Amino acid sequence: MNYQSSIAFPKNFFWAASTAAYQFEGAHLEDGKTLSIVDKNINPNYANTSVTSDHYHRFEEDVALMKELGIKAYRFSISWPRVLPNGRGEVNQKGIDFYKKLINELRANDIEPLATIYHFDLPACLQEEYGGWSSRKIIDDFAYFCKVLFKYLGGQVKYWFTINEQSNMFLLPYLMEFNKELPLEKQKYEMNHIMTLAHAKAIQLCREMVPDAQIGPAIGLSPNYPETCRPEDIQAAREADDFRTYLFTDLYMYGRYRDNVWRYMEENGITPTIQEGDMELLQSAKPDLLGINYYQSRVVKYASETMGNKDMTINVHGKKGETEFEVVPGIYQGSSNPYLEKTDWDWEIDSIGLRTLLNDLNDRYQIPIIITENGIGGVDKLTDDEKVHDQYRIDYLKMHLEQCRLAIGDGIQLIGYCPWSFMDLLSTTSGFRKRYGFVYVNRTDNDLKELRRIKKDSYYWYQEVIRSEICDQ
Ligand code: BG6
Repeated sequence: MNYQSSIAFPKNFFWAASTAAYQFEGAHLEDGKTLSIVDKNINPNYANTSVTSDHYHRFEEDVALMKELGIKAYRFSISWPRVLPNGRGEVNQKGIDFYKKLINELRANDIEPLATIYHFDLPACLQEEYGGWSSRKIIDDFAYFCKVLFKYLGGQVKYWFTINEQSNMFLLPYLMEFNKELPLEKQKYEMNHIMTLAHAKAIQLCREMVPDAQIGPAIGLSPNYPETCRPEDIQAAREADDFRTYLFTDLYMYGRYRDNVWRYMEENGITPTIQEGDMELLQSAKPDLLGINYYQSRVVKYASETMGNKDMTINVHGKKGETEFEVVPGIYQGSSNPYLEKTDWDWEIDSIGLRTLLNDLNDRYQIPIIITENGIGGVDKLTDDEKVHDQYRIDYLKMHLEQCRLAIGDGIQLIGYCPWSFMDLLSTTSGFRKRYGFVYVNRTDNDLKELRRIKKDSYYWYQEVIRSEICDQ
């Protein structure tokens, strides 16, 4: 018998699914909501955020579909400008009521709400007023937003995620606004520091106001593989992990900067401003759990000092080969993996990478982990007989779930799995052409049609996975 075949998902495992407010709700200027920076800046070549999947008006129908799917938990995010149209101050009762109704509906259907506090949608008024995440003023405003959420929703929500993908937010122009007059790298590290302080404040407040809740970040991560066994490439991969993973996770878990990343910042004159009390605040706010968004692994190799610094260029058109790799001179540069298949958006499909990542994190931190996102974006077609045959999605999720099971056997405290996404929604980079859901939403970028919900083949597959996993326990 295979020694791994007896590994089982734990009882009470959160079989779940994910969405985010600006991608799913629509109603972007309704019932008092104001615009966020994503509403304003989202890629203009595709659909905007005004309607998206229209969940704001159809949440009851959507929760009924969740119930039928069999999920035990649902991860969603709360729109800051819906709850606080001015970013702070007066609470928009209609905004809070929407989330209360959604959460009550989930609870009535035995679905545990998992709420993300910040998923990219900063109120645009705060960006205009003081530059958003570039100013320390945002720490108090974010703390106020958290207080409002804990006060009104804390009775019903016992799992909170502070900030989604702090690590990736600096890669896309829609998600952060930078001052064009100032050096970009310096701004990024400054904002990252400020954001980590805001995250720590949220944890402190949660402990005070909802002491029976659990809270942590949701981080977008990829393990970095060396392109060859050349020692320079091995070292490059280790440092890529330091810069792209452990910089963030060490800050969250230990409240400290990694020495090599700090030295890099010093040498380049881009260290963030650390004020008295900052590091103490970070150290006082250890998360209860880590949310991990995993889509792909990465390959890196050594980059010479003479190369120019370069950000990654993301493929937004779904035509293979558009991605351009990142370069950090003297440290590493991205490369592609000849052993892996790629999606049309150049995302490398690597289920084993998920197990590797989970083990790396567990070796360092020994903390409960939940997969807050994992999935594959692609073009789905509705057939004449109203079916969506998304076998490629089933294959992807099946492989990744199997690696989750093996990771549990490795000793990882994995408490849940939230595929991205529960239903089709607006892709952050590529509109409605790139779909992720178990449920098809009948619309395109240019034609809203009737936004009808249609279950894909992957819906029935996931339903059966959940049913059989629960029955076997
Ligand atoms: C994650 C984000 O980075 O990836 C989601 O948290 C996003 O908001 C998802 O939609 C997939 O990315 P994309 O660009 O394919 O929509």
